Amino acid sequence: SGKTKTTWVCEDCGDIQAQWWGTCPNCQVVGKFKCFVESEVSKSRGAEISEALVSSWLPQESRISTPISLAEVTSGTDQSAWRIPLEGHFGLEFCRVLGGGLVPGSLVLIGGDPGVGKSTLLLQIAAILARGFSHGEPAPVVYASGEESIEQIGNRAQRMSITDKDLYLYSNTDIEDILEKITKLSPRALIVDSIQTVYLKGVTGSAGNVMQIKECTSALLRFAKQTNIPVFLSGHVTKTGDIAGPRILEHIVDAVFYMEGDRHTSYRLVRSVKNRFGSTDELGVFEMSEAGLQAVQNPSEIFLSEDFSDSDVLVGRAIAVTLDGSRTFLIEIQLLLIKTFSLKVLIKQAGLKLQDNVIFLNVVGGFELSETAGDLAIAVAICSSFLEFPIPNNVAFIGEVGLGGELRSVPRIDKRLTALAKLGFTKCIIPETANKLPKSLNLDIEIIGCKNLKDVINVVF
Ligand code: TYD
Ligand code: MG
Repeated sequence: SGKTKTTWVCEDCGDIQAQWWGTCPNCQVVGKFKCFVESEVSKSRGAEISEALVSSWLPQESRISTPISLAEVTSGTDQSAWRIPLEGHFGLEFCRVLGGGLVPGSLVLIGGDPGVGKSTLLLQIAAILARGFSHGEPAPVVYASGEESIEQIGNRAQRMSITDKDLYLYSNTDIEDILEKITKLSPRALIVDSIQTVYLKGVTGSAGNVMQIKECTSALLRFAKQTNIPVFLSGHVTKTGDIAGPRILEHIVDAVFYMEGDRHTSYRLVRSVKNRFGSTDELGVFEMSEAGLQAVQNPSEIFLSEDFSDSDVLVGRAIAVTLDGSRTFLIEIQLLLIKTFSLKVLIKQAGLKLQDNVIFLNVVGGFELSETAGDLAIAVAICSSFLEFPIPNNVAFIGEVGLGGELRSVPRIDKRLTALAKLGFTKCIIPETANKLPKSLNLDIEIIGCKNLKDVINVVF
């Protein structure tokens, strides 16, 4: 022993180089390279540990180490297609985001700002997995926390009415110790909350630094692959959107889900940003309640203002329908006109004398509207505001507006219309060019195709 190796690690992105760089060749950030002297022993510490541990209880089949024919792979029982189901409203919502169940041996990262609800989400997942499913008995699940004491987690569980006997709580920050202790339980899943609070002995630096995060994650990955026990990790996200410290974490794990939510609302979105076993189009919608996270039954309407269903109509308010992943959201545009500006398209193409007006536009609920499908609702809200004529509550608008005032089609109009019909909207204006709606689309909603803004104005006002 005594053999050491010097490496340089960028504190910003976690890039590892053999030499020092003033500017990181990976992320171009200046002055963030730090020297790490590691012993050769520590380098493979994670592998050593998990190998030593798993031998005790794993089935003694040797792992396949030669290439095998595809025919052989697919003809046998397909191990990789088997997923652990999560049941109940909450379970099913999360299950869908996972891509249809939890893949054994996968390493899953839940990222998000402190306080957004990661620990709550993970505790609920742990409880559901421990509880079992229609064809699966209850089984041990370990929730290991480096952030809270067992009493704190216990209190949280109590508040959430979680009482599962097979849920094991463990408060520790030593990865080696956690893996050692849980192996005896042979759990259905392991949760580690959070990656920033755990450390691996023999690795340079304290918990939370780049090398620790990288080595701990690698150790957990090897553990998951060798034992087939799925592992969930939580990670804090910095303001820039990266998982605090190393981006490298995202490359190591199998799946990354971000938990998003605004301090002012109780809604929490769980977005798939990387998934080796499923689509990254998935979005889970939850609401934080007194008793933890609840799946939202009708996510389409969460961004509408509360008084929207009231019968009184307001000037300058129009509904758009936007798609996020596989989810549809109804978006409420609110608009206020104040004199002094000009809006070329509407002035020229719709013949409105909008010169001298400043526009204040608000998308209710803080939703970030990035889709062009919202153009028409915005244009109509401006007209409503200008003409001081309200738009009826039961009408929605779908479409992109071109510079000639013409309406352009947008993807998945059928899906958007279905969401509208479900929420009781009776009329929807769509681009006339969107005439390829499936015949099977038998919705209780009047669909009006318009060529351009003038058409729309004639229909609505
Ligand atoms: P938490 O899961 O601790 O967030 P994170 O792990 O991402 O830092 O959740 C933090 C917030 O959630 C906290 O402000 C309290 C709130 N909360 C509820 O509203 N209801 C609940 O049932 C629980 C457990 C937490
Ligand atoms: Mg937490």
